[in-house]
Amino acid sequence: PRILLIAGARPNFMKVKPVLDALENRGAEVVLVHTGQHYDAAMNDVFFADLGLRPPDRHLGTGSGSHAEQTARVMLAFEPLVDELTPDAVVVVGDVTSTLACGLVAAKAGVPVAHVEAGLRSRDWSMPEEVNRVLTDRLSDLLFAPSPDGVDNLRAEGYHDDQIHLAGNVMIDTLFANLDRALASDALHRHGLSPGGYALATLHRPANVDDTGMLAGLLRALGEVARDVPVVLPVHPRTAARLEQVGLPDGIRLVPPAGYLDFIALQASARLVLTDSGGVQEETTALGVPCLTLRDSTERPITITEGTNILVGRDPDRIIATARRVLTDPPPKRAPALWDGHAGERIADALLALLAAPSRPRPT
Ligand code: UD1
Ligand code: UDP
Repeated sequence: PRILLIAGARPNFMKVKPVLDALENRGAEVVLVHTGQHYDAAMNDVFFADLGLRPPDRHLGTGSGSHAEQTARVMLAFEPLVDELTPDAVVVVGDVTSTLACGLVAAKAGVPVAHVEAGLRSRDWSMPEEVNRVLTDRLSDLLFAPSPDGVDNLRAEGYHDDQIHLAGNVMIDTLFANLDRALASDALHRHGLSPGGYALATLHRPANVDDTGMLAGLLRALGEVARDVPVVLPVHPRTAARLEQVGLPDGIRLVPPAGYLDFIALQASARLVLTDSGGVQEETTALGVPCLTLRDSTERPITITEGTNILVGRDPDRIIATARRVLTDPPPKRAPALWDGHAGERIADALLALLAAPSRPRPT
């Protein structure tokens, strides 16, 4: 069968790689489609190099824009590709705008859609990713959940059991496949850091960085943490634009967005991670590194119940107090089931079995 596999933004690249490899190892023809949502070398090229991901077979070149512009541009560029290539299935990953835009085109073209990372819910409808998740699931024939909470959410929303597969976490497939190479990175040395002697932070959620008052409060909290341990902050381009308007406390070291291997190395040896990223909540759990999530909700609750994540919110004083507590009393290391390095293989098996079956479950 011919399968279009979609990637567009930073957190997509590590999710498509294990699915691509597993599908091709089983004889499927995979066309890797890049929408162009992320395009800077540090947000894009470095991941192809670090992950050994082959160049995209097709590039839609859509670039940045408002939500409507980006969704529309991806759809306009993707529709003729679907017409040209007549795929047997379209596989989308994660929760970015490219995920929803390609899922919508495929569903209306009558092509089966598979969603990798289905069923996650923050229940915060103000997050663009929550809109993308809910709608992408609704458009999908096959729903690959990374964790049992995702399965529960999908069942509660009325999806059929034969559409839902508990596949495990492809992000962790990629983490385990690259961990030895990442640990050989000289990122700590380059940044003058010693193992266990620093905190790592990332901030890019619109709710945290688009408002300068909110961003200033979060930076104040990071500045207080930096009194105990230096804080390294690889700066996402969305955040870079806002940081110029906000004063930076002492002790926070701004660095460019890190490559994948460097960033995994930085996570693995951090005393503490503070983040609003989705993927980083998962990777810290798999690595057993304490993580404070600077948000009011998470779509990844298993990282709290079976991992090292603490949902701390965005109140600076609460972040500071919780960071101090975790620095002396870190949470225990645990690992969710099926975060075992084989999720991509389970997804490929289920998808190819479905495509070979005489009748398919369809959304109703
Ligand atoms: C997007 C995803 C978010 C994901 C994040 C991962 C959506 C709605 N959001 O957010 O879920 O967590 O990617 O990093 O899909 N920019 C550059 N260079 C680039 C890419 C972006 O300068 O290579 C700048 C542009 O000014 C752009 C802004 O960043 O307007 C935001 O990019 P966009 O892709 O719209 O959203 P992200 O905040 O990156
Ligand atoms: N990441 C990276 N360099 C960075 C920040 C993150 O390589 O400077 C990786 C991280 O290890 C994870 C993925 O990017 O694999 C998470 O992407 P991001 O935080 O941009 O998006 P989200 O997961 O929040 O959608």
